[in-house]
Amino acid sequence: MKLLIDNADIEQIKRIYDLYPIDGVTTNPSILAASGRHPYDVLGDIRAFIGDDADLHVQAVARDAAGMIREAKKITEELGRNTYVKIPCVPEGFKAMKALSAEGYNLTGTAVYTPMQAYLAAKSGAKYIAPYINRIDNMGYDGVQVAKDIHDIFTANNMEAGLLAASFKNSQQVLELAKYGVLAATVSPDVIDAFVKNTAITSAVDAFIADFEKLTGPGKTMADL
Ligand code: G3P
Repeated sequence: MKLLIDNADIEQIKRIYDLYPIDGVTTNPSILAASGRHPYDVLGDIRAFIGDDADLHVQAVARDAAGMIREAKKITEELGRNTYVKIPCVPEGFKAMKALSAEGYNLTGTAVYTPMQAYLAAKSGAKYIAPYINRIDNMGYDGVQVAKDIHDIFTANNMEAGLLAASFKNSQQVLELAKYGVLAATVSPDVIDAFVKNTAITSAVDAFIADFEKLTGPGKTMADL
């Protein structure tokens, strides 16, 4: 499973990239709004930092297919043709996806709450499909199960699309989908940090260091001997 950062704060992206094995960055209009910066300024900084080969996902906001198509052209002119244009899985979105996929654009079907949205987006040529796990949970349904159903639909129908599962609020939601072997998950920096935030882990490491220092002296490591 690929692991992407769902955030547009360049300092947070640099910090998480420095620590963990990360495959790219996803954004949405709300995430860009939280940055308070011009969208192409912040996205340009992200592209420059992650490099041309990493996945970058940027969402279109037009309500009609013609507008989405114009946005896809501008987004990829500014940020590279390999940038994934996120298109909402609504009727005009499927129309835009069909046209854009025929021209070879990389597309992510987003705002996915139901398996049939995912099926239509995959048939329309999107390479990634982004179900919103926690938002589905908050509606009283099972977000992880919806994502698993989508994964199964793609497998059963030999569809090329894969999941870019999104909207996670805890490690367990990510773990369940990693066990299921979905293509990718995009996760906020605080939830990625929480993967390894555990007193058992820190106390085990502290105990090893204390024992080693008893043997060799304060602050000593294997490099100092
Ligand atoms: O980018 C879409 C998705 O990740 C939204 O997440 O946290 O706003 O539910 P969230």
